Amino acid sequence: MPRVAFDELPVAARQAVTLQTGLINAAHTAGGGINSALAALLETETGPVFVKGIPADNPQVASQKREIAISSYLPATCPRLLWHVEAGGWVLLGYEAVNGRHADYTSTDDLTLVLDALVELQEVTAPDDVDLKTAEERWGMYAEKGQAELFAGDALLHTDFAPDNVLIHDGRARLIDWAWPTRGAAWIDPYMLALRIMEAGATAAEAVSWAQRVPSWHEADPKALGAFAAATAQLWQEIAAENPAPWKVAMAGHAAQLRTFLLVTAWAS
Ligand SMILES: Nc1ncnc2c1ncn2[C@@H]1O[C@H](COP(=O)(O)OP(=O)(O)OP(=O)(O)O)[C@@H](O)[C@H]1O
Ligand SMILES: [Mg+2]
Repeated sequence: MPRVAFDELPVAARQAVTLQTGLINAAHTAGGGINSALAALLETETGPVFVKGIPADNPQVASQKREIAISSYLPATCPRLLWHVEAGGWVLLGYEAVNGRHADYTSTDDLTLVLDALVELQEVTAPDDVDLKTAEERWGMYAEKGQAELFAGDALLHTDFAPDNVLIHDGRARLIDWAWPTRGAAWIDPYMLALRIMEAGATAAEAVSWAQRVPSWHEADPKALGAFAAATAQLWQEIAAENPAPWKVAMAGHAAQLRTFLLVTAWAS
């Protein structure tokens, strides 16, 4: 979705934001991500605020609704959702602004901070009163028969560790963009991070050595990890076949390598 400037929103939408923030002095469009038509850092009379939004009739509005529903359960490492409004044909979410930069997964300093944030997130149990998709539902259809149940668990998972979904600021990593909160086995998130570390140039063995810093990885049944790796490799293969954008083809390659690495590891143990 092409990103629009805050000033291009309908008057009613901008007024609804002003009611929340007070007078807006400046708006800067953010880089990173594609799904939010609006992503802007606002300077307002009550301080800075980050606003993301999409038209209310866009099918992606479901992911905004998921983000709103899960917001009060997120750990301190995630910027606070301050308010949300629907006005002028837009759904808009106002977040605590983080004046940071995107994570660099080639940097061991950044990765150390991201792992700290992930370990903190792993303490959170998926809430019962939010209608979350389960890992079995999301990835089961790509798994071999009878293996989907190996993905079950009650951890709250982020699942999208693209580096532009992590902001580094003041010696901390902040996890943003909760479009796909999921209930499942805790080791799924370190797996997802490992795949993105490979995207940044690491080998499967290097990526797994980072994932191993998360306690849930050690508790995982190697058979379950292998089954999940096979399912995600299948998923990425289908994504790349449908649209062979270079990054999708590359992700399919990383997922296949990680699958092979984990299957060999499972076999060896
Ligand atoms: N709280 C925040 N403070 C400052 N900047 C932020 C904040 N949240 C997000 N951003 C910036 O806005 C960008 C887009 O935000 P976000 O990833 O939440 O939305 P998105 O467009 O839905 O992304 P995607 O396409 O990955 O789903 C981020 O990559 C980041 O640069
Ligand atoms: Mg994003």
